[in-house]
Amino acid sequence: MSALTAAEVADLRAAFPYFASQPQPGTLAPAYLDSAATSQRPTAVLDAERQFLEHHNAAVHRGTSGAVGEATLAFEGARAAVARFVGAATPEQIVWAENATDAINIVALGIGEANAGLGVTGSERFTLGAGDEILVTEAEHHANLIPWQRLAAKTGATLTFIPVNEHGTWSLDDARAAINDRTRIFAFGHVSNVTGFVAPVAELVALARAVGAVTVLDACQSVPHIPVDFATLGVDFAAFSGHKMLGPNGIGVLYGRADMLAALPPSRTGGSAITRVTMQNAEFMPAPMRFEPGTQPVSQVVGLGAAVEFLETVGMERAAAREHELVERLVAGILETPGLRLLGPQGTTQRVALAAVSVENLHAHDVGQYLDEQGVLVRVGHHCAQPLHRAFGIASSTRASVHLTTTEDEVDRFLDALRGAQRYFGVEVSA
Ligand code: ALA
Repeated sequence: MSALTAAEVADLRAAFPYFASQPQPGTLAPAYLDSAATSQRPTAVLDAERQFLEHHNAAVHRGTSGAVGEATLAFEGARAAVARFVGAATPEQIVWAENATDAINIVALGIGEANAGLGVTGSERFTLGAGDEILVTEAEHHANLIPWQRLAAKTGATLTFIPVNEHGTWSLDDARAAINDRTRIFAFGHVSNVTGFVAPVAELVALARAVGAVTVLDACQSVPHIPVDFATLGVDFAAFSGHKMLGPNGIGVLYGRADMLAALPPSRTGGSAITRVTMQNAEFMPAPMRFEPGTQPVSQVVGLGAAVEFLETVGMERAAAREHELVERLVAGILETPGLRLLGPQGTTQRVALAAVSVENLHAHDVGQYLDEQGVLVRVGHHCAQPLHRAFGIASSTRASVHLTTTEDEVDRFLDALRGAQRYFGVEVSA
């Protein structure tokens, strides 16, 4: 599949107010290389939210008016669009959450409810106790670690992990060594937010399924950048955020296999999610509404639907091919610069969308400040992945992440600025 051309990227950038607006005289245009933290939004997404609020705002799924019906159609239409985008067989497999962190919590807390005697029909499949294992990897960001720590503490299960090697990656053999017949849950990232490492999802799902473990995929850094089909990958649950895929803040997605969602109890409860309520008890709706109590972030949902349509129009295959070219340029520039330690795969075949470096003899915050002065916007710190940084023997790193709007010039400005920081701070660089 051919990558987006430079002319197409220029057209795309013109569709984003953030990139189209001219910098003030005397200031540099920002080189935005922080899409892994949050992406910029095209006019189509901003307009979709505004038009919904200006003309169609109403309380979805509540009431009988035509206006409510129209708003509900827009809300459910976005669910259908997201389902199509990630290969879900039905829209009911898409649950709205606040973000990916929230989506992972819906699963972990729901399993906790099942184990506290608050299950629904079929919840026995989530039974956990002493001797059972919840498996993660050492590369997870905190969103896909802490909810499992809490679930282990509540149920008496043991949290185990696949250790990373010196590059912060791990292999299928490492996974084979860690998965056993005590493994009940295997939660792992599709693409690492620090190393860009792509996990072999389908093979991992097969290993987990062979021992009856439930799989939970953190897809925050994959869905915005590469074509993803959860049904083909075979995962039981998956989570991703709207704001990393050109959509609004405050909206994320939990995908679930239909039988898994049917067996998962709700952990947040209240109105809209129920069928019958007495003073003593409540019965719950099927998925997805069982997991969506209270008034939902409707305009954000509509905005996310528009983001999906935008990405579909561009074409994820072509966007991924374009981003791969940018990552090749980024990684080549890092590897040829003395004094930079590239975290993650030492090439680009198993890497998506980003590269993080440790600059020898410099703290990432000093690097970040220098880059900021050059108009290069990146993320510095531990990127919500402290254990992974500890495994590298460092506290923090500097991460550049690309998206379909990124230019070669922006990548070059990042590389130049890293070299400039080395000179500015006068660091000794080992050849
Ligand atoms: N959202 C966090 C990031 O920037 C974890 O990667």
